[in-house]
Amino acid sequence: EKGGYDTYMLKEIYEQPVALTNTLIGRLHDETGEVNLDINLNPASFKRISIIACGTAYYAGLVGEYLIEQLARVPVEVDVASEYRYRSPLVSEDTLAIVVSQSGETIDTLEALREAKKFGAKTLGVINAKGSSMTRELDDTLYIHAGPEIGVASTKAYTSMVSAFMLLALWLGRARGTLGEDLGRELLHATRELPRLVEEALAPERVEKIKQIAEKYSGARDYLFLGRGVNAPTAFEGALKLKEISYIHAEAYAAGEMKHGPIALIDEHLPVVVVATESFLLEKTISNVQEVRARSGKVIAILSDGDTENARHADDVIYVPHAHEMVSPIVNAVAMQLLAYHTATALGKDVDKPRNLAKSVTVE
Ligand code: F6R
Repeated sequence: EKGGYDTYMLKEIYEQPVALTNTLIGRLHDETGEVNLDINLNPASFKRISIIACGTAYYAGLVGEYLIEQLARVPVEVDVASEYRYRSPLVSEDTLAIVVSQSGETIDTLEALREAKKFGAKTLGVINAKGSSMTRELDDTLYIHAGPEIGVASTKAYTSMVSAFMLLALWLGRARGTLGEDLGRELLHATRELPRLVEEALAPERVEKIKQIAEKYSGARDYLFLGRGVNAPTAFEGALKLKEISYIHAEAYAAGEMKHGPIALIDEHLPVVVVATESFLLEKTISNVQEVRARSGKVIAILSDGDTENARHADDVIYVPHAHEMVSPIVNAVAMQLLAYHTATALGKDVDKPRNLAKSVTVE
């Protein structure tokens, strides 16, 4: 049932090219540059969007916020469901509440959905599990079609959720007239490339390199993860993955925040994973890397293929395939998953059943 893999988590990591294909299939139209999502809600009728989720799904929502605000120019806020449901959220009929959930059963997210509905919001779900509780209460559901996810640590659901947000951002941007045809088509092509790029990110020599790095630093007590812009959530997700399966303490920050406190943590014992793939912010990220280095921190840089120039600022480099910046979180997440996975296995942890965790959190 694990298809020849040692664990469900590893199987699901390798299923991502197929999962992504299934998220995208039938939804992208090259000729017109349009996306077809079969959503009945009117994309031009909202003045604001609230994205609500927990854990990894929340980080997918943070990428969604970035994509939707950039492409559709609608104000978006992202909330942790357990906070949203108790804070008398400001909701009206021109709010679109988007809940994000793999299981469709997480109680906090379900209750937050009910709260949003009570105040008149239109509701849309980005959901994996067919016919789950949330889908029965949502106005509309954009299924991610990632297939069943058994490993407790979410992997393929995350990358499929982020891809679904790209589809939503394209759909909203085109319908609301904020996304021009040329950029729309460029992003559509970049999105279509994702299964192939992720397949390439999983090439054996790349995985081997990540495994070596994971083993090298598996004795660390703490880890720091940094990223900027659309890849700040990639850092958050990387830290969460590492924590939950390897039990190594990890923190994550938007890289520009480092100098406002966390920089005090840096010494020669602290590995710092920095997402530094192609970006209009790359120069700024590299200067953050130099700040880490100047304090003897160990830099593990995630760089785009061929970036030997910036490799000299790092102790170790994980190269990932070139991707358009807007879709790069999906490719970069794979490197994060593999790093966490191989750290946990190097430490002999049971990755499919991490202590204290359940796959679906149906209690408060
Ligand atoms: C982390 C993880 C959890 C879930 C969270 C939400 O790897 O799996 O953080 O993402 O419990 O679950 P869903 O998406 O089912 O609502």
